[in-house]
Amino acid sequence: MLSQSSFKARRQKVFAQMHDNSIAVLSAAPLQHRNSDTEQPFRQDSYFYYLTGFDETFAIAVLLKQAGKEKFILFCQERDPSAEQWTGSRAGIHGAMEHYGADEAYSISEASLRFNALFADIQTIYFLINNNPAFDKKLLSWVETQRQKARKGVDAPSKFIDLRLILDEMRLFKTKEEIAILSQTCELSAHAHVQAMKNCKVGMYEYEVEAILLYEFYRKGSRHVAYPCIVAAGNNACVLHYTRNNSLINDNELVLVDAGAELQGYAADITRTFPANGRFTKEQQAIYELVLASQMAAIEAITPQATWDQMQNTILQVLVQGLVDLGLLRGDVATLIEEKAYLPFYMHNSGHWLGLDVHDVGHYKVNAGWRKLEKGMVFTVEPGLYIAHDNQQVAEKWRGIGVRIEDDIFIDDEVVVLTKDVPKTVEEITKIMQTKA
Ligand code: GLY
Ligand code: MN
Ligand code: MN
Repeated sequence: MLSQSSFKARRQKVFAQMHDNSIAVLSAAPLQHRNSDTEQPFRQDSYFYYLTGFDETFAIAVLLKQAGKEKFILFCQERDPSAEQWTGSRAGIHGAMEHYGADEAYSISEASLRFNALFADIQTIYFLINNNPAFDKKLLSWVETQRQKARKGVDAPSKFIDLRLILDEMRLFKTKEEIAILSQTCELSAHAHVQAMKNCKVGMYEYEVEAILLYEFYRKGSRHVAYPCIVAAGNNACVLHYTRNNSLINDNELVLVDAGAELQGYAADITRTFPANGRFTKEQQAIYELVLASQMAAIEAITPQATWDQMQNTILQVLVQGLVDLGLLRGDVATLIEEKAYLPFYMHNSGHWLGLDVHDVGHYKVNAGWRKLEKGMVFTVEPGLYIAHDNQQVAEKWRGIGVRIEDDIFIDDEVVVLTKDVPKTVEEITKIMQTKA
């Protein structure tokens, strides 16, 4: 578990960047209704968790920087034995101070009243604009209450800054502790992928493969997935965020599995594609090896100082050249890239930052230029090719093939592939699929 001192260190970094006489305010995630009186499993807001480690709903975190002094205040639910009988234990006011390092803690029911006092002599509010619109409305209503007191000589806060300007850059660069957790979630997710590969059989439903993944994630210590598992057989792989997972897996189909566990809030994000019966057809293998070549070339191209777009361009170059070589595209590679002729086969970016969110925060461009890849960054490399069953531009033998290969990369003094334990060459996959679990 991340220690309290880690969360405190993060708050101190935020304080150091805040103006004097300012306040930063963050809301915990609301409960999400599922149906009837049932809710979705609770997932804390990533920003809120990043600064507090506090895993309850109905809470507000406040960083107050005033007259050179810094104070961390938590509003949360009070202890309530009869409510806790139904929904589980709460930290309560004392717990917020004792276990979460709050300098002061109050009942969430006192928030409206107390914000009056908190806003006194505050000029600037930092908040996550539009992260939680209902909370923004409440916060702005508290500002409005202050504004109504103008004739009494009260000044309301008048400067509003998106807290993301501070937090996104912090979250982009991972600490040693974060890397340790990310490595662990990648490792256990890799293990689950291997088990899925070994146990997938023709005639299973896609959700049976999902069940293997979930079983292995949970068994190894992850309580939640980082995002809904994608298990897509045959043409379903051409639907990029396919999550129905309810089709039968047929002989001679490829199975695309995009799944990652979450550990202490941190995500893994892995994709592998393998033949349901353990043997690639000629066309499947050709497409697979092309995607793999592009991914390997991109990983090879990652050096500190390389820029984000270099990696993307490397992938594009390899994929388009390969599509021409296979006769799936015709013409000059540079022109085909220029004209985006590859879009029917390749229609997504091949990567994103990874952290507390699977598509983690952080700018990809700085000062209008693509960002350099730097030590401390974690991101995915995930090219794919998708030939839809109704693509009339290509011979029938190519149709219904969808392949994506995705690994998670950490830039340390060298490039580390955190998810390297899942086989990805044709030989390795063929071999492991002969091995009984
Ligand atoms: N699993 C979502 C993605 O690969 O971006
Ligand atoms: Mn991804
Ligand atoms: Mn993915």
